[in-house]
Amino acid sequence: MSVRGGIVVLDFGSQYTQLIARRIREMEVFSAMLPCTAAVEEVRKLEPRGVVLSGGPNSVYDPASPKCDPQMLQLGVPVLGICYGMQWMTHTLGGTVQRAEHREYGRADLKILNGSALLEGLPRELKIWNSHGDHVVAVPEGFQICGRTENAIAAIEDAARRLFAVEFHPEVRHTDRGEEILRNFVFGICQARQNWNRKAFIAETVEAIRQRVGEARALCALSGGVDSAVAAALVHRAIGDHLTNVFVDNGLLRQNEFRDTLSLLRERLGLVVVGVNAAERFLAQLKGVTDPEEKRRRIGREFIEVFAEQARGLGNIPFLVQGTLYPDVIESVSVKGPSQTIKTHHNVGGLPSVMPFQLLEPLRDLFKDEVRQIGRELGLPEEMLTKHPFPGPGLAVRLLGEVTEERLATLRAADAIVTEEIHRAGLYEKTWQAFAVLLPVRSVGVMGDERHYGFTAAVRVVESEDAMTADWTRLPGEVLERISTRIVNEVRDITRVVYDISSKPPSTIEWE
Ligand code: XMP
Repeated sequence: MSVRGGIVVLDFGSQYTQLIARRIREMEVFSAMLPCTAAVEEVRKLEPRGVVLSGGPNSVYDPASPKCDPQMLQLGVPVLGICYGMQWMTHTLGGTVQRAEHREYGRADLKILNGSALLEGLPRELKIWNSHGDHVVAVPEGFQICGRTENAIAAIEDAARRLFAVEFHPEVRHTDRGEEILRNFVFGICQARQNWNRKAFIAETVEAIRQRVGEARALCALSGGVDSAVAAALVHRAIGDHLTNVFVDNGLLRQNEFRDTLSLLRERLGLVVVGVNAAERFLAQLKGVTDPEEKRRRIGREFIEVFAEQARGLGNIPFLVQGTLYPDVIESVSVKGPSQTIKTHHNVGGLPSVMPFQLLEPLRDLFKDEVRQIGRELGLPEEMLTKHPFPGPGLAVRLLGEVTEERLATLRAADAIVTEEIHRAGLYEKTWQAFAVLLPVRSVGVMGDERHYGFTAAVRVVESEDAMTADWTRLPGEVLERISTRIVNEVRDITRVVYDISSKPPSTIEWE
């Protein structure tokens, strides 16, 4: 599998940018998303067959609106502008964009006017999905109008320069035949290579790791989650026992997780794993800390210390394996306007700057569900692959207020009940994450005949494709009832259970 011959998506900040890359990858074509400020050379390096300019929330007339290098329109490959991408293209090439008072959301009817390679094979009328402010009112020289909605010019193209643009969003499911429009661009117009599949990915990645690492050794920090396990399994396939793994118990893991995961990794995957019990050190660092970002920073710092000690003890190891995924990379890239860092995810950055490691990040170009597919292909046990994601700072960010041994025990017990009941209802594989959060909120309960002034557990169960957006799961009443009854009956100190019904955005999945 190669990153060459695919499509580069330049991000102008739309909530849908990831989705464009994803749709293209579903066609087995590689797609990389780069900030719109990326250098032309960076794009050229990927040897793309086409470029997509994403949508974005700004007006081209805002002084701070995101811009890309106009040379992106002269790379010699076709370009498709979507929404803001269309407006930026029009504005840059001398057309006219009219500023709108209000943004326009929702469905509209597209009328296709002229023969167009982009809209090839589609009916003359389509329902499309809009989310835009400004309108193109005059096209640049060389362009023709291929489609209109009632209010606006909705599709334009310059066949000679191979520049295309639509005001609506073909990447969202609400646009009828949107996938066909993208397929027309990817295959019909760009003739992209269809070489993004699992077997080819494994073969190419394993070979590349072998070439790079040679006879040297590599170290991997396992988190107990899917990403680092798949990364380790890939590297293990390439260099065998030249890979050593370290799994740190930071005292913030779920019930029995350290023990169970260690045996799974060692016995079922055959990995060499050093288990490190460092719970006390982490708890000491967290004493008295309540600010979420401060918790993250301290956990990150302590992790680096523990890990560095282990690494020194193991001798000279030049390579470090990390299970960094594509959304981690994107969420950590903060450019003006586009997708900004919302929380500090400490699995990206950090380690290499303080230790002399070269990084091996074999999953850097993948989404979570693609990682699961690769893991399946590598023969990882299903229970590992379907395991819900778990944040690096662990239960510390699900326990609002100070992290203490006692409060961790309470949260662990409540969390185990949520997981058990979600499994029992056959919903574990259908949900993205399901967990308990311990709130520092007390309320009055009656237990037996006694008044009991206990804490509150919030239950969070969400569905998602890649954690960028998420919706709360409409759990059946009986399941909620069992979870609530069991938590209040079985977990001392909790007298009230609430269900979190917020989606992302505007809320995040974790509470801190
Ligand atoms: P949020 O809460 O930002 O989470 O909606 C999105 C996804 O990322 C996980 N998450 C983290 N993972 N370190 C991690 O490795 C972190 O600090 C962190 N914070 C959130 C979260 O569980 C969800 O799957």
